[in-house]
This record gives sequence, structure tokens and C-alpha cells, in this order.
Amino acid sequence: MEKNNKRVAIITGSANGIGKSIAEKFINQNMIVILVDLDEKNLKKTILEIDPLKQNTISAKLDISSEQDIEQLKSIVEKKFGYLDILVNNAGIAPNRLIEDQNLDEWEKVIKVNLTGTFLCSKMAVGIMKEKKNKMKYILNITSISGSVGSVGRSAYGVSKAGIIQLTKQMAVEFAEYNILVNSISPGPVNTKLTKNSDEATKSYISRIPLKRFTEKKSIASAATFLTSEECDFITGHTLNIDGGFLAGGINFPKKDLK
Ligand SMILES: NC(=O)c1ccc[n+]([C@@H]2O[C@H](COP(=O)([O-])OP(=O)(O)OC[C@H]3O[C@@H](n4cnc5c(N)ncnc54)[C@H](O)[C@@H]3O)[C@@H](O)[C@H]2O)c1
Repeated sequence: MEKNNKRVAIITGSANGIGKSIAEKFINQNMIVILVDLDEKNLKKTILEIDPLKQNTISAKLDISSEQDIEQLKSIVEKKFGYLDILVNNAGIAPNRLIEDQNLDEWEKVIKVNLTGTFLCSKMAVGIMKEKKNKMKYILNITSISGSVGSVGRSAYGVSKAGIIQLTKQMAVEFAEYNILVNSISPGPVNTKLTKNSDEATKSYISRIPLKRFTEKKSIASAATFLTSEECDFITGHTLNIDGGFLAGGINFPKKDLK
């Protein structure tokens, strides 16, 4: 077992996109990061970019929806460190499908990766985290505004993300006695490969966002850094919307009509 006093974090889905950006931020905060992803090629590429000397990262090519793979992750943490400070449940898949065209296999896969994967990783993490009762530990889930509103083609994805919002509250209540704070971030559209839509879809999205733009990965990573820092010591069970005002919005009366 390695002896060090650095904070140890697991980030799922960190070979790409938002998870990669959070991993980079955590490395800059002097943490050890275990990057979990199925995408081996980009796992290697990401580690070369964010930790070229491989001193503060471990890569784990694993499927978060497989109980067996998560057992493997548990033994990596136990053997290497014996403790865990942070879990970020970020990995997710997001196929767009109308309910009438949705086949059962795809429905079940989305729920299994997004929701069951979050459950499996969190269940594994609590088993390790609860050993250090006096230290503050953090679980942060990445959900989505699609978990709070209905959108065309977002049934399986939206239901999985709504489940994560509820699971966040459940875990906050059950894990409080171990000093584990559990929160979620609910992003609106972030510039990643998940949001490469048609111009028409992008225009429709932007028309509903009071700030009239998508955001960048770093704004999610900054909030993730705060919600897993020791400065965050009394927030638990909360879902933070980072959506340019999307969920605050309603009918957009043109200001000129109000005169
Ligand atoms: N991009 C957005 O606008 C946006 C908005 C709201 C929520 N989100 C959420 O943020 C998270 C990250 O999204 P992103 O845009 O960075 O997407 P992304 O596709 O760039 O990254 C997701 C990562 O998860 C990995 N992954 C998928 N299934 C996995 C599995 N079974 N096991 C392990 N790893 C797996 C992928 O390989 C990928 O590296 C997702 O949960 C997504 O739903 C994204």
C-alpha cells in the first residue's frame, strides 16, 4: 500500500469530455485521480495530457455497469491506498429516441449505465469511505436538466437522470452518519461531443436558455471542485443546476410586447 496524504478521487467516464476536465482540475489540486472509462485509447491519451509522468493518476478500463468490474475497482483502491476521499459519478450515455421507437435493449442499457452504474460505484465507495468516519468524504453525481423536464427523445436518458437526482437525496440521508456529503450537478448544454446536434436543435436549445449560449466543460469542473472541497461542509442532498437559467425559465414574452 502506498503511503501518502494526498486526497484520492475516482472519476468515472474521465477519458473524455466533462470527466476529463474534472480530472485535470483535481490533478491541479494535488490529488491522486483514478480515471475509470471503457475507452482505453482516450484514457491513455488523457493521462499523457494531464499527468505525463503518471505520478498522480491510475487508469482503470472498466464498465461501471458491471458488478464484477466494480469489485475490481474496489480492490485497486484498497490495495493501493486503503482509503477514498471522492467519487465522481460522471460516466453516461445519451441516445436520443422517441418512446414509440425505443427498444427494450437500449432502454435497459441507458438505465443500467447511467443509474445502476451510479448505484454500483457509490455502493462500492461507501464501503471504503465509511472506515474514516471523522474525515469529510464526497460523492458527486453528474445528472442533467433532462432529469427535471421532459424533452423530445429523452425518455430513457431523462428517467435515468431523474433517478440519479433521487438517489443523491437517498445517499445524502443514509451516508450522513459516515460524514459523506452527496450532491449532484445538473448541467444544461455543455460543448462536448454529446451536444453535437443539428443547427436547428442548437438554435431551439439556445432560445430556451436565458444566457443564450452553451457552457464549457471548465464551468462544470469548477463547481465539481467546490462541491468536493473541504470548504463545502454543510451542503448535502443538493442538485446544482449549471444551465444558464434553463430550469428557471418559462414563457419568454418579448420585452417589446410589454410596453
Ligand atoms: N455534454 C452535455 O451537454 C451534458 C449535459 C448534461 C449532462 N451531461 C452528463 O455529463 C456526463 C459526461 O458527459 P460528456 O458530455 O462529457 O460525455 P462524453 O461522451 O464525452 O463522456 C462520457 C464518458 O463516459 C464513458 N462511458 C460510457 N459508458 C461507460 C461505462 N459503461 N463504463 C465506463 N465508462 C463509460 C465514455 O467512454 C466517455 O468517455 C454524462 O453523464 C452526461 O449525461 C452532459
